[in-house]
Amino acid sequence: MEIRVEAGDISRYQADAIVVNLFEGITHPGGGTGAVDRALDGAISRVIADGDCRGKEGELTLVHTLGKLPAPRVVVAGLGKSDGFTVDKVRTLSANVARFLRRHRCETAATITHGAGIAGLDPEACAQAIAEGTLLGLYRFDRHKKPPEDETELRELTLVEHDAGRVETLRQGVQRGVVLAEAANFARDLANEPSNILTPTELAERARAVAQETGLECEVFDQGWMEEQGMGALLGVARGSAQPPRFIVLRYQGGGSRRLALVGKGITFDTGGISIKPAAGMEEMKGDMSGGAAVIAALGAIARLKPQLEVTGVVPATENMPGGNATKPGDVLRAMNGKTIEVINTDAEGRLILADALVYAGQQSPSAIVDVATLTGAISVALGNVALGAMTNDEALLERVRRAAEAAGEKVWQLPMYDEYKEQIKSEVADIKNTGGRNAGSITAAFFLKEFVGDTPWVHLDMAGVDFYEKEQGVLVKGASGIPVRTLVHLALGMSREAG
Ligand code: BES
Ligand code: MN
Ligand code: ZN
Repeated sequence: MEIRVEAGDISRYQADAIVVNLFEGITHPGGGTGAVDRALDGAISRVIADGDCRGKEGELTLVHTLGKLPAPRVVVAGLGKSDGFTVDKVRTLSANVARFLRRHRCETAATITHGAGIAGLDPEACAQAIAEGTLLGLYRFDRHKKPPEDETELRELTLVEHDAGRVETLRQGVQRGVVLAEAANFARDLANEPSNILTPTELAERARAVAQETGLECEVFDQGWMEEQGMGALLGVARGSAQPPRFIVLRYQGGGSRRLALVGKGITFDTGGISIKPAAGMEEMKGDMSGGAAVIAALGAIARLKPQLEVTGVVPATENMPGGNATKPGDVLRAMNGKTIEVINTDAEGRLILADALVYAGQQSPSAIVDVATLTGAISVALGNVALGAMTNDEALLERVRRAAEAAGEKVWQLPMYDEYKEQIKSEVADIKNTGGRNAGSITAAFFLKEFVGDTPWVHLDMAGVDFYEKEQGVLVKGASGIPVRTLVHLALGMSREAG
């Protein structure tokens, strides 16, 4: 769909619907909403007076214009209380409005820039949030499904701005929002794609296509290369599968002094291996490459937005299958840095493939490494489906990640890495073992990863609680979430600004 910005009077705009807004407690609206109200001879004020539109957060009121305006419908979007109104709320509201318009079979719509009026928020940020929210909220994965015949798509949304001097600023916001949302939707596409289609080879092809479109450098390595590198942990996971593994590297060269490495778990399907998972819900494990998808998508967006820094994306990709050649509990693997690992549970495969990927990333001499992985079920026990878990060896880097998440409207919560937890991954027969028991499962997983990052500042993001949603809520839709693509992009933008 297309999102545009035009100068003009929204009440004169021709579209299937025009969208205005209302703060809670306002009885006589001003601004764009006021202009539309006057053109409707006070119809909005009347609906408010009658108590049918109260400006509550999330409330959407449909008013028919009966020929008084060029547009047949007006949607009044409730903003809630005016103090505490944020850009994040603009994003959420825009997603809800977009789906509402689609349900009402609107193909074109015009809107005022929510938040940029009496709320006094930065107009560019609001325009960005409207674009992001709209595109994220409308997403659905319908590639393998015939669309129902009576359904329509919202094709066009226009931000109508009364102050012509602001149009260019709003356009910049929209453009950035489009890049961010398209990247998240691309990651959603990858994670929603079934594993018979999205094999490690196909994931690498899709990364290559992103690289070609955006001017990134892309290298894809095969099993022979992994053997030469000594990636025994990654190979130990791949050996149970008939699909060949791939090691995907994307490079963005934006100059500057900072070098960020992003590492994403790319398990295209996780059966658990020999320590096989129960059947119920196993189909969700097609999304076990969401971390890798987020890294590939983020690199694409970074290449479009061109911040001044260097970013390397690293995605080890394989299935985790219980083939006849599969690694078995008790087996010992040797990672690329020479550390030996006793495999207690073959379902703790993510940390194994990340071990070699982190060593590889460290060899690129980055100033920071951030890894993203659907690593542990335990993170959902701790944080539910609300926040990513973050663990680090460098508080300052985590603070940067927090600020990036804040800008994206994504939530990150730190778990502690007290030395005591490390005891749990001591092994009798190898340097470490790959599981630390039930207690503090997400933290012991992070301690395992820490063995492979050396002294480089590092943040581990466990996204297993937020990778997949059962129902629509704001910018989130059914299926893959596209989290934390936008956080990663904001992190790169933030690092480039600070280095500048
Ligand atoms: N991919 C899973 C984690 C996961 C669980 C992601 C649920 C999304 C939703 C990971 O590979 C895994 O199986 N982890 C095990 C680790 C355990 C064996 C130490 C887990 O969390 O049960
Ligand atoms: Mn697993
Ligand atoms: Zn997994």
